[in-house]
Amino acid sequence: MSNLNAVLGSFFHTPAYGGFELLERALIELDGRGFIERVTLLSDEGYDVRVIAAREAGAREPGTFMELGSDECGLPGFVDLHVHAPQWPQAGVALDEPLDVWLDQRTFPLEARFADPAFAHAVGLDLARTLLSRGTTTCLYFGSAHLEGSFELARACTEAGQRAVVGKVVMDDPEANHDFYRDASPASALADTEEFLGRVEHLDADCRRTVERFPGVFAAVTPRFIPSCTDEALAGLGQIVAAHDAYVQSHCNEGEWEHGVAVARYGKTDAEALADFGLLRPKAVMAHCTFMSESDTALFAQTGTTVAHCPISNAYFADSACPVRRMHEAGVKIGLATDISGGFSPSLYENIRMAVMASRMLESGVDALVPCSSRGAGRPSRISVAEALYLATKGGAEALELPVGSFEVGRAFDVQILDTRHPYADLTGFGIFDAPADRLARILYLATPDSIRKVFVQGRCVIDRDAL
Ligand code: GUN
Ligand code: FE
Repeated sequence: MSNLNAVLGSFFHTPAYGGFELLERALIELDGRGFIERVTLLSDEGYDVRVIAAREAGAREPGTFMELGSDECGLPGFVDLHVHAPQWPQAGVALDEPLDVWLDQRTFPLEARFADPAFAHAVGLDLARTLLSRGTTTCLYFGSAHLEGSFELARACTEAGQRAVVGKVVMDDPEANHDFYRDASPASALADTEEFLGRVEHLDADCRRTVERFPGVFAAVTPRFIPSCTDEALAGLGQIVAAHDAYVQSHCNEGEWEHGVAVARYGKTDAEALADFGLLRPKAVMAHCTFMSESDTALFAQTGTTVAHCPISNAYFADSACPVRRMHEAGVKIGLATDISGGFSPSLYENIRMAVMASRMLESGVDALVPCSSRGAGRPSRISVAEALYLATKGGAEALELPVGSFEVGRAFDVQILDTRHPYADLTGFGIFDAPADRLARILYLATPDSIRKVFVQGRCVIDRDAL
């Protein structure tokens, strides 16, 4: 299939937090770069004329026009804000350990294998393709502590056709890390980070020259988290971020243990310490953020920092549920993430479901032996499935300041096409609950990878299950 110029069909999206919109039988026209130029609705004047013209243009240039069937619909491609690519081979493994043991005994020995660039490339390509097949068209990745391995991951994403932001991880404290897997020194960690930024910028420029509708590859400054970095590295990374106006990603306030490490070391919270190093700012994405005091929350809102909400992972390692609603109401930007492999699933659908369920458990509490009046968080905490969809799409787009995440004019046409009557894919429904809100809820709760038939990034087909 070649590059799309126009699509006729029904599309769900969440242009604003809280609600959703169904664009029923809409004609979406793209410019030559795969960005949305015009959206014409059934009720708009000139609709029939435009549709006829689009069909005729499609007949002249096969593959440039797509018409969805009545059982098909489109959702914006998802934005996953937190993935550890080198951990993909252990997804689902050893989740019964506490975080520090899991990192030390399982995760770091596995991540050390990214020392082999060929292995890094193979894992990265498999992961990027898998994520695309689950509808994730943009992804913010942690690479490993290796410069080459992390660069191979970035290259693999360009080959898979996924829009990616990739970081070379900094973990330089010899007291906190194995000798077989760490930066040699704070100075080398900073030099490698600078070099990584430059190399990814070149890769992006090369691909833009040679690949039509290339969606972009970007670098992120990536201190793993406070417990694995020296103050010298953290301060130096803050300066690099400011000098390059770069993306920055880390973990913040994940669980009791990490929280305690920051308080013992600095006498302040993780969030306050990261802010002091200049690491909380626009285009900064902090994973987890479950242990957020009111003042930590205010700090995130003031600095324009985004929370990457990782609801499945939090059920294992965070000792708590993330207060999404409280942070949203305080003006904090939030997106959704799988946190592979703290989260076992590569699917943001699974994380949308868990985000809704965890928010309800936070509100109501879970121990039935505690009186109902004191069992829960004591404030409204639940989020709706449409709010979770916003986090998975436009929330992530806002975090990365990328024009994706909805079907509004000027945004890249990143879309996942679902067949809602595909056999054995759970969504049959017999046409009974067909109000738009019911249709969307069914899709978000029940879609399987089999339901996702095609995926486009900037109007370029990257997954076509019907062609397999
Ligand atoms: N904190 C530091 N590194 C990690 C990681 O790889 N996964 C999770 N869940 N938390 C972390
Ligand atoms: Fe993580």
